[in-house]
Amino acid sequence: MCERVPLADIAAAEGTPLYVYSAALIAARYRAIDDAFRAYPHAVHYALKANSTLGIARLLRSLGAGADANSGGEIDVALRAGFIPEQIVFTGVGKTPAELAQAIDLGVKTINAESEGELERIDLLARERGTRARVALRVNPDIDARSHPHISTGLKTNKFGIALDAVRELARRFSRSEGVEIVGLHIHVGSQITNLDPLRHAAQAIVTLAQELRDGGVAIDHLDLGGGLGVSYDGSAVPTAADYAAALLPIVKESGLSIILEPGRHIVAPAGALVTRVVDVKNRPDGNVFVVVDAGMTELLRPMLYSAFHRIEPVDPGGGDEIVADIVGPLCETSDTLGKDRRLPRPRPGDLLAVLDAGAYGAVMASNYNRRTMPAEVLVDGATWAVIRRRQTIDDLLALET
Ligand SMILES: Cc1ncc(COP(=O)(O)O)c(C=O)c1O
Repeated sequence: MCERVPLADIAAAEGTPLYVYSAALIAARYRAIDDAFRAYPHAVHYALKANSTLGIARLLRSLGAGADANSGGEIDVALRAGFIPEQIVFTGVGKTPAELAQAIDLGVKTINAESEGELERIDLLARERGTRARVALRVNPDIDARSHPHISTGLKTNKFGIALDAVRELARRFSRSEGVEIVGLHIHVGSQITNLDPLRHAAQAIVTLAQELRDGGVAIDHLDLGGGLGVSYDGSAVPTAADYAAALLPIVKESGLSIILEPGRHIVAPAGALVTRVVDVKNRPDGNVFVVVDAGMTELLRPMLYSAFHRIEPVDPGGGDEIVADIVGPLCETSDTLGKDRRLPRPRPGDLLAVLDAGAYGAVMASNYNRRTMPAEVLVDGATWAVIRRRQTIDDLLALET
């Protein structure tokens, strides 16, 4: 079930593979973060990169979230979802001049600048427009998020942000510029962080830096602490939103500055499942079994990209004897494996499986490899549900080609 709707009913109506999300769980997880920080001035800017389907973005806006956009496309999505420019922060390591101009023209709340070169480009573009852009400096604190290397962003060997020492100098220089107003500091050390220490250290680093800047005459008005709070993919205990706030608030209170948070995964990951149908069940010579399903790396890249683990469960648990199986997709890639050595009741072709905790970095990373069309997405609310993105057709795909 998703809330009060049987997954099998949605799959029967919409086909598979299919993403299904729970509106109630998204709302509960958003509110848990917002409530945990209630005692301190804060704004929760949902990281659209985790899942930017309009229906999800609109839901978060209706709950009071702001948006964190990572591209011109995500800014467009935020606007179409009803966010106003003052509710959008713009991050990203390779913002093009066109994207920067878009953000400056709109007057977004803050552009989180990633380098000296980018500051120069923002300054020039803003001066050409006779305006001043609100900018936060993204700091690279050289802190290890202790997450997967592909989603750690806070080490000096990672491409993100400006080294601590350089930030001081750039803040002084650009606070005197005509096109840039330095209003904040930004930090994001990684994603799927389940040990709060790196987040504490990161917060401490920018609180100290903010004080130094203030002493040097650069007055900023906020600290953006990024996202990164992890979720439990395997059922083990992870920090809650309350633990997260309890770790960060004592540190940021010292600064007296308001904070921005950019959570993505923590809000939407557990609220989504990828529903897939078994196509074939093949015995292997070693006794293991391949369960071939109709979803693969084109629908959920995370297992292949990060060796990510997702629980995979039968939608109808009343199957056959327990087997040990590799759950594999239909793509012409050996790495197209959703789960290895999984124990589950022997399914039959046609049975449904649910890949759990797939609400973040799932549908947004879907691709058309092997000319596969993107899956449909459904948002469940209590006993009702709606298609928030219809399944792509081969005609949609070929419409772009001559
Ligand atoms: C700058 C920034 N903010 C927020 C996020 C969201 O992270 P998460 O989904 O882990 O909360 C990311 C993701 O990597 C990011 O790069």
